Amino acid sequence: MPEIKTELIALLNRALEMEQASRIQYLAHAEQIKGVDSEPLIARLKEIASDEGKHEGIFRDLIGNYLDGEPSMGIDKTHPAKERMEILTLNIAGEKEAINFYKTIYKKVIENKENLTYAYETLEHQIRHVIIEEQQHLAELSVLIG
Ligand SMILES: [Fe+2]
Ligand SMILES: [Fe+2]
Repeated sequence: MPEIKTELIALLNRALEMEQASRIQYLAHAEQIKGVDSEPLIARLKEIASDEGKHEGIFRDLIGNYLDGEPSMGIDKTHPAKERMEILTLNIAGEKEAINFYKTIYKKVIENKENLTYAYETLEHQIRHVIIEEQQHLAELSVLIG
């Protein structure tokens, strides 16, 4: 297997583990929100969790079907929280971390275009798509934190 494929499988598996942790964290945090006016925030956290689940699917597909790798079943570290502000702050940090890491993967894909003949456009499109959605999550959470 070409070196770049092996390298991308490892990076995308790390990304997949981040998504798996992120989805679980959003769902668990959603159950901690209580009180008056809590419903819009609960709905937003669950909606973001659903997006993270779709990102898992995208990364599994790229790893398994485009790079001939094996998708990880591992889960990155999760962070418990109970208070609204703590929940928002933690997840804003998580979204930023994801954007920064996915951008390094995206850059590596771009730099290796010539060696990814049968996967390049799909990798470029899908990783870019996930980055755009994380930026959307970041914007939505930033509005909520005020
Ligand atoms: Fe995600
Ligand atoms: Fe996200």
